[in-house]
Amino acid sequence: MPYKNLQKKVSTIISKENLTVNNRLTEVCELLKATIDYYDWAGFYFANHKEKTLHLKAFAGEATDHAIIPFGKGICGQVAISNENFVVADVKAQDNYIACNIHVKAEIVIPLFKDGKNMGQIDIDSNTASAFTKKDELFLEWVNEQVATIL
Ligand code: SME
Repeated sequence: MPYKNLQKKVSTIISKENLTVNNRLTEVCELLKATIDYYDWAGFYFANHKEKTLHLKAFAGEATDHAIIPFGKGICGQVAISNENFVVADVKAQDNYIACNIHVKAEIVIPLFKDGKNMGQIDIDSNTASAFTKKDELFLEWVNEQVATIL
């Protein structure tokens, strides 16, 4: 697993039973953003399957106007439907993209599953083009597996 040290810190946050789930998720976002230099925004969106919308529950970085995203819209909304990782090297090359911040160049969205159900996703924005690799996919999949244990 990449980011071994970081993995330990994430586990410690996840196991803080005295904190609410939202507070733990916020701490995870803050940790990821502070530790990995090309992670400029980190957030967790959760799905409302009845309304077919994603809702921002926790984040670190600049506040966004896009706290609610309909399924199908933007990179996040597409992942809500596809159930697949979406790694975007250049956000400008995407037709179905929601810009939160003009500095963002790359994005990675990894779906979060509990008992096989797509509960939402972790979304990372980077101000560096082509920032994300398989290493990030594996790491963020692992983060989501940890989060699933407290949902
Ligand atoms: N860029 C995302 C929207 C969320 S912001 O990055 C925080 C998208 O296209 O779905």
